[in-house]
Amino acid sequence: MNTTQKKDLLHHLLLFFIIFSATSSSYLAVVHGVNEAVGYGYKLKSVSVDPEQKWLAADLALIRNSSVYGPDIQKLNLFVSFETSDRLRIRVTDSGHQRWEIPQEIIPRQSQNPFSLGSPANYQTRKLKETRSVSDPTSDLIFTLQNTTPFGFTVKRRSSGDTLFDASPDPSDPRTFLVFKEQYIQLSSALPENRSSLYGLGEHTKRSFKLQHDDTLTLWNADLASANLDFNLYGSHPFYIDVRSASGSGRIAAGTSHGVLLFNSNGMDIVYGANRITYKVIGGIIDLYVFGGPLPHTVVQQYTELIGRPAPMPYWSFCNYPILFYFLIFMMIGILKTDFYE
Ligand SMILES: *[C@@H]1O[C@H](CO)[C@@H](O)[C@H](O)[C@H]1NC(C)=O
Ligand SMILES: *[C@@H]1O[C@H](CO)[C@@H](O)[C@H](O)[C@H]1NC(C)=O
Repeated sequence: MNTTQKKDLLHHLLLFFIIFSATSSSYLAVVHGVNEAVGYGYKLKSVSVDPEQKWLAADLALIRNSSVYGPDIQKLNLFVSFETSDRLRIRVTDSGHQRWEIPQEIIPRQSQNPFSLGSPANYQTRKLKETRSVSDPTSDLIFTLQNTTPFGFTVKRRSSGDTLFDASPDPSDPRTFLVFKEQYIQLSSALPENRSSLYGLGEHTKRSFKLQHDDTLTLWNADLASANLDFNLYGSHPFYIDVRSASGSGRIAAGTSHGVLLFNSNGMDIVYGANRITYKVIGGIIDLYVFGGPLPHTVVQQYTELIGRPAPMPYWSFCNYPILFYFLIFMMIGILKTDFYE
């Protein structure tokens, strides 16, 4: 073989390799898509409830492995607590390993060890059938575990029975199941299609403040100009306010609102359909806060009580930055010109 022939052979081999690898990987993707769901959810193993109704703890076990997006985490801990009468916190963590969380020194939070919340004598384990809900008597919120396969949970209002967060699974649709993998976490809640209006989940520039149905909101900080519609921008705020319309029965007043924060700093897609919201996160844990409101401004007060409020600024610092910028440019041009001619 001369050198040209060798080169030709090498070219052909390379081409063959590229075509082969491209077709085989797309073939695998099809097989995954047809045969395997991203996850099959978890089942409840045991539940403990605080007799004073301040917290609930549960152990969860994986129902079935799925290889899509990597191996599932086998055992999870669920811990639900009323941190204030208006703030319910729901945490789902890997029971075997510590995972990334936003550091306490950035945003201080309450401790989550059940034994630190009361004396060990208060810690009481009850059978699964007896109790599956927790409702601080001072709160309008009620958390209930659904002992379904896979397991789910709901957060309701005591006063009206309205369901605020509904992570109960639709057994026919694995997209509604809880999935917890090393690099993929999925949590989904049903929404009342015609009574729910969501605001938030920034930072994006949208055509309207009210979020539109059938949209995917990506939280992945990027230094893009805010004039770009529907792109992920500088900040990530996985928080929304849900302003509900009046119910047909008249039990729920128009404008009754609550807030939901997924306290997780990893990249995520939030898929907002008409009757469902689904979080798809690439790391960390599920640390979900539900703020009871019941008015939009009280939701914001409860939210900022947790994440912190901005410090008041001096009035003189409220200037218009673009105007300041051009003002300085013209000043500099003026100075340069002066130097040049004199
Ligand atoms: C999933 O796979 C792992 C590793 O093969 C195994 O240890 C575990 O028992 C499996 N889990 C279930 C629920 O089948
Ligand atoms: C919501 O409203 C639309 C249009 O008014 C209607 O077609 C749909 O059936 C309603 N959905 C529910 C769940 O009530």
